Amino acid sequence: MTREDFVDEAAKSNTGTSGAAGVWNGVPVVVNYVDHDANKSTPASSGKARYQSMEGYDETGKYVGHFDDMVDVDPRIFPTGGLVMIFGRCTHLCCIPGWQLVSNTFTEDSWTPGGGDDGGTKLFCICHSSRFDPTALELNTNRNRANGSTFTYAGIRRSGGPAPVGLPLIPIQLNGDTIEGITDYTDWLTYCD
Ligand code: FES
Repeated sequence: MTREDFVDEAAKSNTGTSGAAGVWNGVPVVVNYVDHDANKSTPASSGKARYQSMEGYDETGKYVGHFDDMVDVDPRIFPTGGLVMIFGRCTHLCCIPGWQLVSNTFTEDSWTPGGGDDGGTKLFCICHSSRFDPTALELNTNRNRANGSTFTYAGIRRSGGPAPVGLPLIPIQLNGDTIEGITDYTDWLTYCD
């Protein structure tokens, strides 16, 4: 799908958002679109979806850092053209979450300021019902399962369920209307190896 496809789909949505699951470089991903530029200056109470840069806490509750800290180092990590690409392996047991694939209270087409769990536009892992909010951008940590090393990553927030932390972002660039992943951050994808 091109960016234009996501924009067209979002125009049919109540909240101006859209998403789709796919494969990038052989790994499962979910791409989510929010009309961030149009909505970023409106108050959250207006209900207009936008990306939210947030503080991140690991699974023990320890403060990890702010999403903007990493954007300051590499601005390509911030959503491009209103789009994010998310690594689609659940941080619980590595199942593959989808985007709004299940119609229930967690995945209905709505948007929650602050990255909460009431309302939808979520990535939903059907295995054990973990939810992730693609608009709530944070820092977090995870572990390479093979060698035990810990890494810090920019990702989206876990909003509910047994997953311990959120999912990593794969930064993107636009080549015209084509969405291309940036391969600099593949170490973020090692927790299921
Ligand atoms: S593997 Fe996703 S909730 Fe268990």
